[in-house]
Amino acid sequence: MVTRRTFMKSLGLSALAPAALSALSADEAPRSPALEAKTLRLVQYCDPQLGFGEEGFGPSLGRFHKAIDLINDLNPDVVTVLGDLIHRYSDPVDEMVSGLKRIKPQLIVAPGNHDIPDPVTPEKLTRYRNDFGPDRQSALINGWKLICVNTQLWRESPPEETAAQDEWLAAELDDVKTRGIPAIVLSHIPPYIAYPNEGDSWAVLTNENELRKNLLVKMTESGVRFWLAGHTHETIVRAFEGMLVMNGETTSANFDKRPYGIRLLTAEPNGDYRWDFYKVE
Ligand SMILES: [Fe+2]
Repeated sequence: MVTRRTFMKSLGLSALAPAALSALSADEAPRSPALEAKTLRLVQYCDPQLGFGEEGFGPSLGRFHKAIDLINDLNPDVVTVLGDLIHRYSDPVDEMVSGLKRIKPQLIVAPGNHDIPDPVTPEKLTRYRNDFGPDRQSALINGWKLICVNTQLWRESPPEETAAQDEWLAAELDDVKTRGIPAIVLSHIPPYIAYPNEGDSWAVLTNENELRKNLLVKMTESGVRFWLAGHTHETIVRAFEGMLVMNGETTSANFDKRPYGIRLLTAEPNGDYRWDFYKVE
């Protein structure tokens, strides 16, 4: 079992994240386990994005099915697919839908910007929900609360949909805080990739009206241990006030030349964790 510090050192990450990362030590990891929480094994699968990348649809579909076989062998407590299921909104979704049905453990899917493209409309939301189910959800697994949000609703989208998610999220975080449950947030777009106060870009949540800042503060104050995301197509680990923000490898295209694959997070109530990479060829 590695601590946050030894893990980051092993990836050479201290050189990549000067301010935010170096501010955290292993001793500062949250260590107030709820009595009922147990070890949680969670697969983080980022951006299968069928049809993206130089090789086209076939190879990405092949790796998707290999990843599913691997996931079923790993038999985690829960599988999270963190958005960009498909690459082109006009493509049929049958291959993705039937593949997801082959996943045996409990499954949580977050919508990506290729699944509900900008600008978000009621029609696009309805299509996503019909094809893939709820675009936000929470689950209690092994004493951990998993909170999956639709980050598309924090871009150009119907205000009533954004307000409904905000209200729901506030209630979920209140519940986590009140009951002292360790929590994990799941989304497609990460809050930030280099610094919490970096400028807005395609890669991160906007900080307009301090949205990003407020979310980060609310998450950490409520006891969120990890914020797992996709979208960047780069492997990135950051720490914000003891909460780890982690983006993993994809099976479609990795801009940082990392191999294709998925991550298995093994999280302990006492703050220890592993974030193991599994290659998919
Ligand atoms: Fe993507």
